[in-house]
Amino acid sequence: MSMLRVENMTHFFGGLRAVHNYNLEIRPGEVHGLIGPNGAGKTTIFNLITGIYDPTEGDVFLEDHKINGRTPHVIAAMGIGRTFQNMLLWRHMTVLEHVKMARYSKLSYGLIGAFFGTPRRNREEAESEEKAFTLLRMFGVDQFADQWVPNLPYGAQRRVEMARAMAMEPKVLFLDEPTAGMNPEELVQMMDIIRQVKEKFKPAIFLIEHRMKVVMELCESIQTLVFGEVIAEGTPDEIQNNPKVIDAYLGKEIVE
Ligand SMILES: Nc1ncnc2c1ncn2[C@@H]1O[C@H](COP(=O)(O)OP(=O)(O)O)[C@@H](O)[C@H]1O
Ligand SMILES: [Mg+2]
Repeated sequence: MSMLRVENMTHFFGGLRAVHNYNLEIRPGEVHGLIGPNGAGKTTIFNLITGIYDPTEGDVFLEDHKINGRTPHVIAAMGIGRTFQNMLLWRHMTVLEHVKMARYSKLSYGLIGAFFGTPRRNREEAESEEKAFTLLRMFGVDQFADQWVPNLPYGAQRRVEMARAMAMEPKVLFLDEPTAGMNPEELVQMMDIIRQVKEKFKPAIFLIEHRMKVVMELCESIQTLVFGEVIAEGTPDEIQNNPKVIDAYLGKEIVE
């Protein structure tokens, strides 16, 4: 069974064909990479699957449930968590609040409980705080729990964004260039965190990434996208040695 499947997806922005006849299958627990030059359509694919745009053509299935046509909120609740290429965090919310807020969709006590503070509500709230802290510790940001996000170092902000995505216990985690703009130390930390997430929560992971080292080390399967089309698909070894990929992409990349 596939965790996530995309069939023949095409998307136009006005006259621009950003994605053409895209197919994808990610198995449970698999880490799948998407690479390709700037403007290839990678982020658009994320936005199409997560409901931000409605594909011009094609279907998306999460565990065999068709999800295209649903709102981003519903798709997130169904099990696709994500981070954004340009981080989307709230300025006036603490680190802990970010993660607790994401967890609210998981709580069941409802409005009356929230208002009157019923025992069940208190118990769930305490549990929720405990789980949120566990996540913050795992992502190495617990020492910032009470701080506003803009006050954190950049790498730590990225990790908060990931902790928030994991707080919803997604079946599939989408990461859009999670190491963009990071210094070498932050890069190592982020790779370590992705590995930990993989081991502890075992979500399927869909990773857009520019740094070859990251993709090659973390992914089991990789697609290369150029002008909205997949020009190569395979294991890291197959991709690295594919002449089309080297020509279109790797050959132009300065090795980091
Ligand atoms: N909302 C949008 N409206 C119009 N064009 C867009 C929009 N989003 C992306 N594009 C265009 O689609 C193409 C693919 O963009 P994008 O998916 O961001 O590429 P990548 O993430 O691979 O760098 C680009 O030509 C970009 O300008
Ligand atoms: Mg992008």
